[in-house]
Amino acid sequence: MEVNMEEIKRKLKKYNQEHLLRFYDTLDEKGKKKLLEQIENIDFELMNSLYNNTKKSNIQEEAKIEPIEYMDKYKLNGLYKVYEETGTKAIKEGKLATVTMAGGQGTRLGHKGPKGTFDIGLDSHKSLFELLCDTLKEASKKYDVQIPWFIMTSKENNEQTIEFFKKNKYFGYEKNIYFFEQGQLPMLDTEGKILIGEDGLVKLASDGHGGVYESLVKNGMINKMKELGVEWIFIGGIDNCLVKMVDPVLMGMAIEKNVQAAVKSVVKANAHEKVGVFCRKNGKPGVVEYTEISEKMAESTDENGELLYGESHILCNLFSLNSVERMGKNPLPYHVAYKKATYIDKDGNKIVPEGPNAYKFEAFLFDAFGELDNMAVLRVKREEEFAPVKNATGVDSPETAKKLYEDYYKL
Ligand code: UTP
Repeated sequence: MEVNMEEIKRKLKKYNQEHLLRFYDTLDEKGKKKLLEQIENIDFELMNSLYNNTKKSNIQEEAKIEPIEYMDKYKLNGLYKVYEETGTKAIKEGKLATVTMAGGQGTRLGHKGPKGTFDIGLDSHKSLFELLCDTLKEASKKYDVQIPWFIMTSKENNEQTIEFFKKNKYFGYEKNIYFFEQGQLPMLDTEGKILIGEDGLVKLASDGHGGVYESLVKNGMINKMKELGVEWIFIGGIDNCLVKMVDPVLMGMAIEKNVQAAVKSVVKANAHEKVGVFCRKNGKPGVVEYTEISEKMAESTDENGELLYGESHILCNLFSLNSVERMGKNPLPYHVAYKKATYIDKDGNKIVPEGPNAYKFEAFLFDAFGELDNMAVLRVKREEEFAPVKNATGVDSPETAKKLYEDYYKL
């Protein structure tokens, strides 16, 4: 322990983070051990470079952006049947696993507890977790196969999530459910100092949905999938109550087109809707944010009058297992967000800020798309597959999601 302590002190001095040990003596034995472990696990070089990035403008490097080709699910003609048959066969053979990313904080929704436990107000009062689980149970019956469900949680909500599933007897799907936790990074103050949380430990925050690939690999989930004979992984969010995790047409499209990923899009509501859209970036598949393209590009259309950049990314993506494994081994860039974070100041006082005061670093799932050589984009109908629950009221709120859900299921 002594030797470790000396090393740790040296390291902290080198990186100007010596304050992390300020409350060490006040911690109990467990806390002391935990803090030292945390410090040992921090990549200080990375934190330094992330802090330096906060000083740079958010403008991304100039990339060559071009439209990406897509197919409309309802204009596939003869191919629809071909894809459906191929996909159905693969699903029946147990080649599909599903992943739900449920580690987010859901700040905009403001629900106390994991977002998946939220009740959007249906007569059944089912939670988002149960609504998604219902679709898996139905598909398992339809295709006569058990479809595994991997649920990504975060440190903040892992315990509560598992408790919720236990309380609800895993909605009768227990033997197919696997939980895994996403990674975390320390939060920094505006001077680049790592924050100390209320527990006297390093203040950590989830590393964004882009952490999903690495977490799947690091937590042994990819190996588990291999044992199960899985070849394709659908990765989606928890907050779209119309998400179709099991779709033979998407799966068949990926297999028939021999691509590493097949993703779903919905057409933009208008040229300036604030969504990320699929594109090619320097020739590779990617997603371009609405802030990254000019007004002219956003409005440009093809010979049929369709928007050239009109395919919104809706977090409904199917990947080959090999590509997820590869993406999980390569680090993604982190984006910085300026957030509110309660912390302990140098005098030991708890500070609850009124506004943003700290930097949080997040990786975005779609930043990994550039690792893929190819990707097929399938345009689906918004009213059939996209009912997001993001905000407490107004657009993309429980109210709009409930309406879309009830209309789709004719409740
Ligand atoms: P959002 O980016 O909409 O974030 O996540 P959020 O946490 O749900 O909500 P806000 O932004 O705080 O209001 C899209 C999907 O990615 C998951 C979310 O749970 C959601 O399913 N996600 C996001 C994670 O699993 N981990 C993260 O670190 C971030």
